[in-house]
Amino acid sequence: MQIAACGTNGTDRMGSCRCCGIGGIGGDSIQDWQLFVVAVSVPQAGDSLLIQVEGIKMTKIIWMSDPHFQNEGTIDGLDPRMRLAAAIDHANTHHADADFAILSGDLVGDDIEGDYTALAGYLAKSELHIYPMMGNNDDRAGLRSRLPLPEDTMPDFIQFALETAEGTVVCLDTHKVGSHAGQFCDVRRDWLDNLLRKTADRPAYIFMHHPPLALGLPKQDEIMLEDDDTFLNVVCRHTNVKHLFMGHVHRPTCGTVRGIPFATLGALSFQAPAPRPAWDWDSFKPPKEAPQYGVLEISNGNVILQYTQFCDFALGMDG
Ligand SMILES: [Fe+2]
Repeated sequence: MQIAACGTNGTDRMGSCRCCGIGGIGGDSIQDWQLFVVAVSVPQAGDSLLIQVEGIKMTKIIWMSDPHFQNEGTIDGLDPRMRLAAAIDHANTHHADADFAILSGDLVGDDIEGDYTALAGYLAKSELHIYPMMGNNDDRAGLRSRLPLPEDTMPDFIQFALETAEGTVVCLDTHKVGSHAGQFCDVRRDWLDNLLRKTADRPAYIFMHHPPLALGLPKQDEIMLEDDDTFLNVVCRHTNVKHLFMGHVHRPTCGTVRGIPFATLGALSFQAPAPRPAWDWDSFKPPKEAPQYGVLEISNGNVILQYTQFCDFALGMDG
C-alpha cells in the first residue's frame, strides 16, 4: 500500500491528490474506502511531520428497475428472463465491488407464485445482494413469501431502510392494490416521517416506484403517485433528504421537485417511447432502445449516477 503524498486539495477515492494526482493506494484488494490517510503537510526545517487524517466515504449501489419478470412467455415481444440474466451477469462482471443492488419494483407479471419463485432463482445468481421493492404490478404477500427482506421491514408494507457509509437508503412501498397509480397512505407517511426524524443527522436517499410529480410523460403521468403532496410535504420537512430515485416510467429523466434532485431509470425490460410523437396504450410500441441499469456512487455527499447499457436492444426480442 502506498500513502498519499500531497493532498493539497484533498484526494480522490484512490487517495490520489485531486490537484496533482500524487499518491494513492496501490494494489488490488482494497475493500474499504472509508479508512485512509489523505493529507500531509510539507515540513519546514526543524518542524515535526504533521499528518492529518480524513475519512473517505463511498457507497456504491447498482440500481435496477422494472424487470417485468415472467416465468414463461414474453411481454411485448420480449423475453424478460434473458434481460434480467444479462443485467445480473453484467453487474457481476463489472460492479461486484458495489455495496448492494436495489430492484425498484414491477418485478413480475401475472403468475404471482410462479414468477416470484423463478425470480428468486435468478436473483440468487447475483454476487450483490438485491433488495426488492414493490411496484404497481407486484403483490405484497407473493413478494414477501419468496424474496428475502430486511428484518425491520414494515409488517404491512414493504418499506425498509438500509444504513450505509454515506447515509440512510430508504426503500418505499407506493403500491396501491388494484391500481397502476401509486399510493402513500398515512401509515407509510408516518413511518417515513419518524425514520427521517430519527436519522436527521445523516443524509437520506429515497427509492420509490411511483414518481411524486408529473414528468411530462402523459401516459405515465396518468399513473403517478396519487398522494404526491402527502409524500412531498414529509420529505420537505426534513433537510436530510438529498435525492429521490424512481422507477415505473421505463425512461431516464432527471430534475428537481421542490428543490430536491430526482432521477428516473429505464427498465431492465422494455423502454417507454419519448412523449413526442404522442402515443397511447393502443398505439404503444417500445422504442428500439437498449435497456439499462444505474451505477450510483455517493462519495462525501456527492452523488453520481451512470446510466449503463448492459446488453444490445435485440437481446431477448422476437425476430
Ligand atoms: Fe414497469
